[in-house]
Amino acid sequence: MSRPVIILGIESSCDETAAAVSMGDKILANVVASQKVHESYGGIVPELASRAHQQNIIPVVDQALKKANVSKNDLSAIAFTSGPGLLGALLVGTSFAKSLALGLDIPLIEVNHMQAHVLAHFAKGEGLKDASPTFPFVCLTVSGGHTQLIVVRNHLQMELIGQTLDDAAGEAFDKIAKVMGLTYPGGPLVDRLASSGNIHAFKFPHPQVPGYDFSFSGLKTAVINFINNQLQKNPEFIKQNLNDLAASVQHTIVEILMMRVRQVVRDTGIRSVAVAGGVAANSGLRAALARETEWNVFVPPFEFCTDNAAMIAVCGYYKYLAGDFTDQLASPEARFSGL
Ligand code: KG4
Ligand code: ZN
Repeated sequence: MSRPVIILGIESSCDETAAAVSMGDKILANVVASQKVHESYGGIVPELASRAHQQNIIPVVDQALKKANVSKNDLSAIAFTSGPGLLGALLVGTSFAKSLALGLDIPLIEVNHMQAHVLAHFAKGEGLKDASPTFPFVCLTVSGGHTQLIVVRNHLQMELIGQTLDDAAGEAFDKIAKVMGLTYPGGPLVDRLASSGNIHAFKFPHPQVPGYDFSFSGLKTAVINFINNQLQKNPEFIKQNLNDLAASVQHTIVEILMMRVRQVVRDTGIRSVAVAGGVAANSGLRAALARETEWNVFVPPFEFCTDNAAMIAVCGYYKYLAGDFTDQLASPEARFSGL
């Protein structure tokens, strides 16, 4: 019998230090250390992120191996995020993965963070639904750094058909939340406040962008200007309208995203739609997708929406099967042009 493929996945592109162990496409352990250090700054401070990754990486990997009950000598390969992301943060995971692979004399696999977000849908394991999307499907990847519309033809063949021209959807949530006086990351807080607000209380503009691309900076500016104007008339405006503001902003962002997805479904005839990335956790977006009864909608479990290493391990597994390895010359890249 052939040995099972056991992959250690490492993720350090942004503000989560994560490690996961997979056997085939089954996740045995998925450990994430989130960095609290950025909260008081209202955004991620790259240098602090790199330092926190350095502190976290060994304990996180150790915990993942222990949880999976796997010895490092059982590993078939190490998969790591090589970009896109913060260069200093990526360097920590990349250097760690390279040294461990060298020490163990096992193959190294480079993973594109955005491709991995899509492949989070193929993670199997305890407590996970077996239903993965069937090919081809449309994936809307919405995170703090990216907003992408992707046609997924198979595990490793993906076509980027639309993306944001400026801010990402999560960034729009976070920046608007900051003006509302909420802590970073504001997306989940806006989501919570929106649940008891009126989505029609305030009307904000939709961007005029051709094709399948997105833009959120106009919305951000419109909301900030609106709030500042209202504050001049009533200093208590935010406090008195927090839920309605959250609900109206969330509704607008969700509608901008949904308009594009509806357009792609109409144009391509592909009715399988998946969401990925941190904003896929948003309850307004989930509800809007659930209302599309003609579609087959796939939403990953919460811990696989936000940054994690299970998705890196799954991507690593498919690249392992394809024989797609890298070597000790691998270096991270902050920006990736494609998928
Ligand atoms: O994928 P992710 O963990 O990291 C990046 O690669 O960016 O996404 C983080 C983003 C943040 O902008 C955060 O505010 C947003 O996802 N987010 C949400 C929710 N949960 C996370 N935005 C709206 N509603 C949520 N429930
Ligand atoms: Zn991400």
